[in-house]
Amino acid sequence: MAKTIIISNRLPVQLQISNGTISAIPSVGGLATGMKSVHSGGDSLWIGWSGLTDEETPEELESQIDNALAEHGSSKVKLTQKEVDGFYYGFSNRTVWPLFHYFLEYSEFEWESWEIYKSVNQKFADAILDNTNNDDVIWVHDYQLMLVPQMVREKRPNVSIGFFLHIPFPSFEIFRTLPWRKEILSGLLGSDLIGFHTYDYERHFLSSVRRLLGLEVSFNDIYLDDRVIKVDSFPMGIDYKKFNEAAMEHAQRDESQKSELQKRLDTHKESTPDAKFFLSIDRLDYTKGIAKRLNAFEYFLNKYPQYKEKVRLIILAVPSRSNVPQYQLLKKEIDELVGRINGELSTVSWTPIWYFYRSMPFDNLIDLYTTCDIAWLTPIRDGMNLVAKEYIATRTDKTGVLILSEMAGSANEMNESLLINPNNFEQIADTLDRAINMPQEEQQQRNSVLQKRLERYNVEKWANDFMNSLLNQKEKDRTYI
Ligand code: UDP
Ligand code: G6P
Repeated sequence: MAKTIIISNRLPVQLQISNGTISAIPSVGGLATGMKSVHSGGDSLWIGWSGLTDEETPEELESQIDNALAEHGSSKVKLTQKEVDGFYYGFSNRTVWPLFHYFLEYSEFEWESWEIYKSVNQKFADAILDNTNNDDVIWVHDYQLMLVPQMVREKRPNVSIGFFLHIPFPSFEIFRTLPWRKEILSGLLGSDLIGFHTYDYERHFLSSVRRLLGLEVSFNDIYLDDRVIKVDSFPMGIDYKKFNEAAMEHAQRDESQKSELQKRLDTHKESTPDAKFFLSIDRLDYTKGIAKRLNAFEYFLNKYPQYKEKVRLIILAVPSRSNVPQYQLLKKEIDELVGRINGELSTVSWTPIWYFYRSMPFDNLIDLYTTCDIAWLTPIRDGMNLVAKEYIATRTDKTGVLILSEMAGSANEMNESLLINPNNFEQIADTLDRAINMPQEEQQQRNSVLQKRLERYNVEKWANDFMNSLLNQKEKDRTYI
């Protein structure tokens, strides 16, 4: 029977070994959380890296690892430490990630990392070839695996291959600086369908294909000698029901069922009923604008001193890619900023910023989403930003204000939120003031529209739209000579 093969660097869980015991922890990030919902509903196999290197995996644990992954419908690609360094920390996260997010000055162009990226992509392609037959549908995900579609196509010319990019595709002027720009485009063109979150990313990609490869592009079709490739935008949704129902269940809880975090949040709410909670949740990543947000918060408190002791900013920063120097520097910068701002502004009864540097279980995320009056997300560049959508989905009484950077892909679909430019502190301060004073009726009007849209364009619809488009494209292709 034909099956869908999902392939990405991250699996739904990451394995860890401690004292000879294997544990699986949920992976963080939009790709893993979104695809997890799609994967759990269907008959698919998910191939990816387990999170362990060969060096840290004793041979006798291999079968236990396979079993642990099989419980999540997954199968592993094995990587050595050298491969993880060159492919993941290197080319993926020191070259492509910064470049595609317009952080040109952070991008490193190392030949050795590129060579390792190529060979690791070949490993993933081989894993697909070993696990599939011609009828299967292959869905490759994200910037770590951009060469995989062509590598699979070479061996299986007729198989259906879809590729989805979860991060922005930059403008031609940025993309052209990559020494391996043609190879990356050719790798992607092994697909039948290439999907992006927004129409802008799609347009940038088509422009690079036209200008760098000189291929014929008509609307959103790319013509090769023997195939047509479709390019389209599919804004990723969330598992709306999961978040909405969790929030409803959460609202019914009595005191004894509440988490420690919730109890603490409640105590503070009760002691200062007029005070507002601001919330931001991001991986600790320079693209998320966390340092700018902290500076903007200080600016806001100076511009509107009447809010001192009346607002609290809760920042959840999830550790990410901590072997990459830029992330280490950012961690230091944020630690210092939080320390300085709290040091300067705190009073005996008030700490303006609560900073958590960890990942939190789903239940605690719901505690935060449902308790905080204002979600404040200021990415400098973000492919989508699912946190914005999750916040809205949990607001079961429709109150709450979302302040969102216009640089996030999700801003295209969330016009009813308060959109800001993350570099404009004046605008941010005024928007925070507006959010604090927004009448409940207006909050509810805005959120009703947003919720309806999120419920309709949920992650299941996103995956179905992508898959249907892929199958249609394959069908059309059969008639193309
Ligand atoms: N998330 C999580 N654990 C946490 C904090 C966040 O699993 O402690 C999830 C969050 O619910 C969201 C994802 O991580 O689904 C972040 O996705 P987003 O698109 O906002 O950003 P990305 O990390 O993919 O850049
Ligand atoms: C973003 C990327 C994903 C990645 C996630 C977490 O969402 O698009 O591909 O999995 O960040 O990053 P990590 O490096 O931990 O996989």
